[in-house]
Formats: sequence, structure tokens, C-alpha cells
Amino acid sequence: MSNIAVMGLQWGDEGKGKIVDLLATDADVIVRFQGGANAGHTIIVGDKKFILHLIPSGILHADKICLIGNGVVLDPFSFVEELRLLQATGIHTDGRLFVSAHCNLALPYHKLVDEVEERERGDGSIGTTLRGIGPAYRDKVARVGVRLVDIFNDRLIREKFDQQKTLKERYLALAPDDNRADMRANLELLLSLRNVFAPMMCDTSAKLAELNARGKSILFEGAQGAMLDVDLGTYPFTTSSNTTVGGALTGLGIGPRMITEVVGVVKAYSTRVGGGPFPTELKDDLGDSLRNIGGEFGSTTGRPRRTGWLDLVGLRHACRINGVDKIAVTKLDVLDSFQRLSICVAYELDGHRLTELPLDVTHLERVKPIYEIFEGWRAETTGFTEFSRLPSAAQRYVRFIADSLGVGVKLVSTGAERTETILV
Ligand code: IMP
Repeated sequence: MSNIAVMGLQWGDEGKGKIVDLLATDADVIVRFQGGANAGHTIIVGDKKFILHLIPSGILHADKICLIGNGVVLDPFSFVEELRLLQATGIHTDGRLFVSAHCNLALPYHKLVDEVEERERGDGSIGTTLRGIGPAYRDKVARVGVRLVDIFNDRLIREKFDQQKTLKERYLALAPDDNRADMRANLELLLSLRNVFAPMMCDTSAKLAELNARGKSILFEGAQGAMLDVDLGTYPFTTSSNTTVGGALTGLGIGPRMITEVVGVVKAYSTRVGGGPFPTELKDDLGDSLRNIGGEFGSTTGRPRRTGWLDLVGLRHACRINGVDKIAVTKLDVLDSFQRLSICVAYELDGHRLTELPLDVTHLERVKPIYEIFEGWRAETTGFTEFSRLPSAAQRYVRFIADSLGVGVKLVSTGAERTETILV
């Protein structure tokens, strides 16, 4: 029995949705453990396109159990919207979708705070998804958050909302006509969702332990990527959760040995949304080509993504902090038309060669990437399913990445469809 964790190794948007969807075929249980509705997993099945922000993409497989752990900041209104969309598409969730009672809620007032704070940051803005993620995690750590289970406790939930009204006074006053500022209406709306959540609320730790003991295979679905980890990423230009494998342990209440394999998802080039350092960024025609060919526009916000070459310095860090066993390389076909490709193998900073990320993240703005140049394969690879049939230059490109990281290759994705995959 294998329990695989699928972790993004860059700045999110590596194509984890498809990898999770594929690996879900052999899993019984699929779990989310951090982040919130800032994530956007796009899955294409036949002629249907699904973008899920909160509910694990494994839900699209009719017989799987899906679980949202306590580490997720749950936007109950987005969750219900997704639920209705799934149900309207004929996907039923009764008895197979569970949510931790201890999820902190990301509520409308958190979005308001996110928006106000981003505006106030001006040029230094993080470029958040405006889903209230940072403010919701901040309330959690400050121990003033509202947890899912609280909505079933009349006295407590009202006390917490009163406390929030005081704590968020400055923000609420800035937007008096905004319905996100109407605390009473928000509370009533939230309480009206009790029926939806009552049958699916549980202790995810106990539930997972029981499923694991029964020999069920568990798939851990990471959101965002290693470089956005609040402790280990390019802080402060990160999200507010632990997007690396440790987040799975605390975000679900499991021990480390429950995870038997860590698969790191690496897009064949780099992208990032929002602000923050990006040493291999291409601000030229090549960057535009990557964006257009790769369809690099945010699935949560629609924002154009910044694009650039692959960065092995960041990836080595990401593999180490996640304990990656194997990588899944995605969107290789996006590189099909490029004459030459570059991979950053080290940085230069003030005349020194760096093979690790600099300690001071502001130095990452100044580093110069040292590139290894590869001939492009200039041939179509879309839909390929056998590694040995790939052009030799494409094989070399993938092997170079894996060898440099000291990990194996689990699969290579050559298109959006489930079938467009090479299992190595
Ligand atoms: P937040 O998570 O909305 O607070 O955003 C913080 C940073 O993480 C911003 O740079 C976002 O663009 C980035 N981010 C958050 N979620 C995702 C994601 O799912 N994919 C890519 N970037 C993300």
C-alpha cells in the first residue's frame, strides 16, 4: 500500500491538479491539508473542465473518499458553491466528503482585510489572491479564529463574531457599504450552512488513522508550491501556510511515517504570480511565448503569470525540504517549439557562485542566474506516452533535471488530458 504526497516544487501552478487526478486512480482517499480557496486545480476530463479551489480534485472519481484537514482555512461559501457545481454536474459527494471540525474559517471580512492591506502595501504588495488567506491564518495563530465546529455552538459563535467586529473595526469602517462588512448578515448566512456541514464534519486525524489501518491508500494533495511556503519560501512573498510536506503532518494530524512516498511536481519551466523575487524571469518575447503557449494565466484570479527558465537552485531546496523521492515533470510539450532552452544551475552574487538560496531574500533580487544551455527538440511531443519515443533532446532535458536533483522520475506530462502522460 502506498500513501503518496504530491507537492509543488516551484511557486504553485506546476500542474498538480492533473498529477493528483492521475494518481487518484490508484488511491482510495484524497486529502487536502493547507491553503484555502487561493488554490485552483484545473482538471480536464473529456470535454469537461473543472476548476476546484477547495474540494480535493479526487472528488471527480466517483468511488473515492475526500477529506479536508484542519490545516486548511476553509471559505465555507466557496466550498458550498463548489459543492453545488459538482452536484449540478452529476457528481455526488454524500458520505465521501469530510471536513475537519477544526478548520479555521476564511470569512468575508478576511477578504476585506486582504484587499485593504494589499492596497496599503502599494508597490510592495504581495499580489495575493485576495481570498483572505493571510488574514485568516493570522487570526488562527492569534487564537481568535472561528473554527468550523464553532458554528454549532450558539453562544461561542456570537461571542467570536462580536470579538471580530471589534478586532476588525478599522477595516469594516473603511467599507461600510460592502456586504463583507455586514457582520450580522455574515453570521446568519454562516449559521444557515449548518445542515450542509453537519454530516461531513469530523476529526480528520482519527478518520485518517482508521482508513490507514484498514489498508486504504491515501493521496496527499498539496496546494501552492515550496517557494511559497511561509517558513521556507521567498518570505514575505509567500502564502501564509506550510506548503511543504510538514504541512501535511500538522494540517491533518498524522505522523511522518504515514506518508510512504513524496512526489514533487516540477513544471518544465518556471512561473510565478504576484510579487517577489524570480531570478530566472524572462521579461522578453521568450517569456511571452512561454505564457501564451503554456496558457499561463491564473485559474483563481485570471492574472497573467510571470514566466522564466527552470531554476535548479530553487528546486534543490524544494526537494530537500520536502524529502522528494521522485519528480513528475509537467508541460514538457510547451517547450516543443523553442530553439534553445536554458536551465539555471547556480547563481552569481557579487562575484561568488551560489548553489543554495541566499539567506537574505532581498539578495535573490540581485542574483544573476548561471545557465546551462540545451538544444531544443523542435518537434511535437504533445500526447506522447513513452519516454523512449521522446526526441533525444527532450529525454536529455528531463534526465538532466532529475540527475541534478538526485531524484527519480515518476512521470512526464505531455498534455492536459489524463492520457497524455508518460509513466516512467
Ligand atoms: P495568498 O495565498 O492569496 O495570500 O497569496 C500570496 C502569494 O501566493 C501571492 O503571490 C499569490 O499569487 C501566491 N499564490 C497563492 N495561491 C497560489 C496558487 O495556487 N498558485 C500560485 N500562486 C499562488
